[in-house]
Amino acid sequence: MNELTQPGRLSRVRATAHAKLTLSLEVLGRRKDGYHDLEALAVSIGDPSDVVEVEAVPHPAGVTLEIAGDVDHVPTGRDNLAARAAEDLLIEAGRSGHGVRMWLRKGIPAGAGLGGGSADAAAALAAVRRMLDVDVDDAGLHQLAAGVGSDVPFCLLGGAAWMRGRGDELEPVSLDGTLPIVVAIPPFRLATPAVYAAWDELGGPVADRRLEPPPAVAGIIDELANDLEAAAEAVEPRLRSFREDLEEIVRAPAILAGSGSAYAVMPAVDTVAQASDLARRVGRRLRVPVVGTTAAATGVRLSA
Ligand code: C5P
Repeated sequence: MNELTQPGRLSRVRATAHAKLTLSLEVLGRRKDGYHDLEALAVSIGDPSDVVEVEAVPHPAGVTLEIAGDVDHVPTGRDNLAARAAEDLLIEAGRSGHGVRMWLRKGIPAGAGLGGGSADAAAALAAVRRMLDVDVDDAGLHQLAAGVGSDVPFCLLGGAAWMRGRGDELEPVSLDGTLPIVVAIPPFRLATPAVYAAWDELGGPVADRRLEPPPAVAGIIDELANDLEAAAEAVEPRLRSFREDLEEIVRAPAILAGSGSAYAVMPAVDTVAQASDLARRVGRRLRVPVVGTTAAATGVRLSA
């Protein structure tokens, strides 16, 4: 029994927000509301991650946010999804008289397709709910999450799941064993709306590169592909040579993370330590941040 598992309010809660990686992303078509219907297989990954810390302020100060770490391209104020999520929860719960101070330490690069902003929003929802002992159940939190962004429900659920609809309809799945992953982050970033707009302009291309799934997901999916890759390459032509260089070093095919710009490889190794060794070698050759990691069981981890 610790502070977190006991009922009642807390003055401060810390949450680790894990990045999300789409192992495969099929775009089914553009919807009337401008979003796109998807069928994606996604996993939470251990690394990179962000830390969101919230503190209750005893007067109606609204939500204030301070950001540190890898802050490049990270929106501030109410443009930040974590601040917006916390405000939405306070309003939904009739707690708009409360203030929340929030600190965000960024480890997940923005514009890399790793769901960093969505993970922060999910962490903010879970942390503020716990701190203020807010009477909103998991289904209610899922609804709020979907209102903040298409990927926020997945980041809140975490683990591994099929994402359908605009990404907010989830079907959890179980991985078969460990899933070592190497994630390489290029020095350029991509804006998700621009990549979807390019997919429309290109006439809705279907991925031509199809990868054999690693053993951990072979029972769930037949092949891995990302329908946004051609669109992402149209927006950022340097993406292709980045991938080709990465594939040459690891001698394995790479899959684009979401709308990019990060690329992931699932190397034929048994342990995360081996994936980390490989990541270090790739990082030295490509001179960019590269992490060796594995699937994480949760999207958000709370601590008091
Ligand atoms: O839902 P969210 O605000 O995170 O989406 C950001 C942008 O990504 C949308 O405005 C849209 O351009 C694009 N998007 C999409 N279809 C999805 C998810 C996102 O077109 N399923």
